[in-house]
Amino acid sequence: MLTTQCPHLVLLPGLVNDSRLWQHQAAGLANIAHVSVGDLTKGHTIAEMASDILASAPAPQFALAGLSMGGYVALEIMRQAPERILALALLDTSARPDTPIALENRSAAIEQAESNYQSVIKELMPKQLHPIHMEDAELVGMITDMAMSLGNKTFIRQQRAIAGRIDSIPSLSLIKCPTLVLCGRDDAITPIGLHQEMVTAIEGSGLSIIDDCGHLSALEQPARVNEALAQWLAKITS
Ligand code: MLT
Repeated sequence: MLTTQCPHLVLLPGLVNDSRLWQHQAAGLANIAHVSVGDLTKGHTIAEMASDILASAPAPQFALAGLSMGGYVALEIMRQAPERILALALLDTSARPDTPIALENRSAAIEQAESNYQSVIKELMPKQLHPIHMEDAELVGMITDMAMSLGNKTFIRQQRAIAGRIDSIPSLSLIKCPTLVLCGRDDAITPIGLHQEMVTAIEGSGLSIIDDCGHLSALEQPARVNEALAQWLAKITS
């Protein structure tokens, strides 16, 4: 049962995602946490997004979960205000900055998004979803709607912010709160190895690998993700 003693949980979406990314977590965890979804559509840098979240957060201290770009922002929040974070969950993300090849691919995607944004979103889909979920027309349609409703200006702004992110590897050892690292076994954008290195660097953290799952674990395997998040939240409530 939700009481005033339950923690606040702030969920941070990824690239051209909004609260629909976290719809199953918002519903499934509503009895154990005060859940809200942060808005990452305004900032021009990851640092600006992080300070926006801290300024608008519903409580002085809260649990924080970020998926992909949301994870990059969560790691920046851990640098800006670690004392405000009760527990951290990093889903389908990375502590590393872009490689030169990733930067080139991002520039090409930005250029393509200027003239044909819909084709960018279509080409991104098989990288985001496990092949079995590519067959789920309703899910593919919802992810497409989410990206189209946020639009190419948001996509371009977020891609530039992502491209400019700093290396978070050196600050991982400073994270001291209960930390869950989770990824889809077949995450093609941020593969398992990137998560294993975060777990090695963050003392006492745990790794959860979700089968039959790509990059968008919160949508692809909501029940298993909710179970992992509930166990992680129990570390700050029990
Ligand atoms: C995301 O889902 O937020 C992006 O794929 C992250 C990225 O491109 O690095």
